[in-house]
Amino acid sequence: MDSTILDIGCGDGSLTSKIFKELIPNCKTMTGCDISEDMIRFANEHYASERVNFTTLNIEGELPDHLRERFHHATSFFAFNWCPRQETAFQNTYDILRDHGSCFAIVTEKVSLYDAYRTLAEAEKWKPWVIDVERYISPYHDSHNSLKEMEQLLGKIGFTTTKLEHKIIFHDYENQENLKGGIMAVVPFKIPDELYDDFFIDLSQEMQMFDTKKYNLKKSTNDSVLNVQILVLYFEKK
Ligand SMILES: C[S@@+](CC[C@H](N)C(=O)[O-])C[C@H]1O[C@@H](n2cnc3c(N)ncnc32)[C@H](O)[C@@H]1O
Repeated sequence: MDSTILDIGCGDGSLTSKIFKELIPNCKTMTGCDISEDMIRFANEHYASERVNFTTLNIEGELPDHLRERFHHATSFFAFNWCPRQETAFQNTYDILRDHGSCFAIVTEKVSLYDAYRTLAEAEKWKPWVIDVERYISPYHDSHNSLKEMEQLLGKIGFTTTKLEHKIIFHDYENQENLKGGIMAVVPFKIPDELYDDFFIDLSQEMQMFDTKKYNLKKSTNDSVLNVQILVLYFEKK
């Protein structure tokens, strides 16, 4: 009630707007921010309203003064994992929040998609396009104790960690076309149009191999399920 909320890495704004409408309609304002100007333009055109607005911001860049201690609370879904400079990203989050502010976030951890990127980056067929892969892999993907790493980082910045846990999401896209849309929307490589279908076949085969062999996830009854291991975080500036 009466809080100002920032959604970090809001993407197209659809989730920010849904959270505002369905979960916190009584907050004062909800602001979505994203590093991508295209995302923010789209979000402003489709989801802005009297109390919902969108702005460009690089959460691991230099923080503009007018954003310091500006928000009561923050949310962030699947965005911090895109930030190689984790400490700057969480420090900026700390600086953006007012005293007693809090942040609820979901960060991807181990995902077979990232393992598949690495394999395809080595394959002659895909090498020309699958480049700079480490840039797109969660900083916690190779971690042996991501909970401890995250807790230490948040503590160093000055946050009190209230919740920190692993979860596995099994999202059933129901058919291959939907799964393809969901996965290819986050694949950052510029695959030529004529190779797009072929790329998805190779990528999804690699993902299934890693899901069963590396992560011991049971093969699902259909192959349109996406498995993602995530970190769920709730931390406060006390
Ligand atoms: C997978 S999308 C998630 C979008 C939305 N939160 C959702 O769950 O539907 C990740 C978003 O994080 C944004 N992002 C990546 N790095 C960022 C940064 N340094 N600062 C702000 N946003 C960033 C990307 O542009 C992208 O829109």
